[in-house]
Amino acid sequence: MGISVTGRDVITVDGVGASGKSALARLLAKRLGYGHLNSGLLYRAAGWLMTRSGVDVNDADKVMIELSRHSITLDKDVESRTIVFIDGVACGDELHSSEVSLTASLVARYQPVRDKFTKLQREAFLPGGVVAEGRDMGTIIFPDARVKFFVEGRLEVRAGRRYEQLKGTPQEATREEISRDLAERDARDAERPIAPAKPAPGAVIVDNSDRPLDEVVEAMYRVVTGQSE
Ligand code: DC
Repeated sequence: MGISVTGRDVITVDGVGASGKSALARLLAKRLGYGHLNSGLLYRAAGWLMTRSGVDVNDADKVMIELSRHSITLDKDVESRTIVFIDGVACGDELHSSEVSLTASLVARYQPVRDKFTKLQREAFLPGGVVAEGRDMGTIIFPDARVKFFVEGRLEVRAGRRYEQLKGTPQEATREEISRDLAERDARDAERPIAPAKPAPGAVIVDNSDRPLDEVVEAMYRVVTGQSE
């Protein structure tokens, strides 16, 4: 595998929910001087639109009609964080509530929803290199990426991490609720027929349960720069 057909270097970081893949992908992107594409935010923005409008997420046609009424676009801040805009307005924490996590995972099952975001993802932050993070970055969106990772982690560690993130915010929930929602969402994302969350062929599996974040990023950086055995 060489430089991607899109003419730039692409590293993919797929993985399960709350595995820490966003933080890993962002830090890796920063270190490489690349853009960080957090593709989950696109599905979260779509999910947020459905919760706000009350559209039945089991009706794919209605979901597409609602989506066609709005623009969803991307940019990045100085810390390489992806910012998603709905109709030109930047989204924030509201995209991380349990309700939006659930609706994002439900709308992500539909091929037309995924198609709507394909070009946006492939062209994000051109012309520089990109660390693309999500579920299908290495399998569907950037199949010719130079290096592919798949991030995993034990459920109790991931639920604990999400609990700490949400504590004190309006999205706060108990560890049990978070753990149950995560397990349900992971199963749906992994078992769906379209673009299931699974490691791409040749992906390097990263377990992000126990080691400090910096150490894991360092290990990934060494793989990307060809310094690991
Ligand atoms: O990465 P995340 O937890 O923010 O993603 C939210 C949901 O979006 C997740 O449940 C599955 C979906 N998703 C997807 O289907 N494909 C992607 N590339 C990224 C996210």
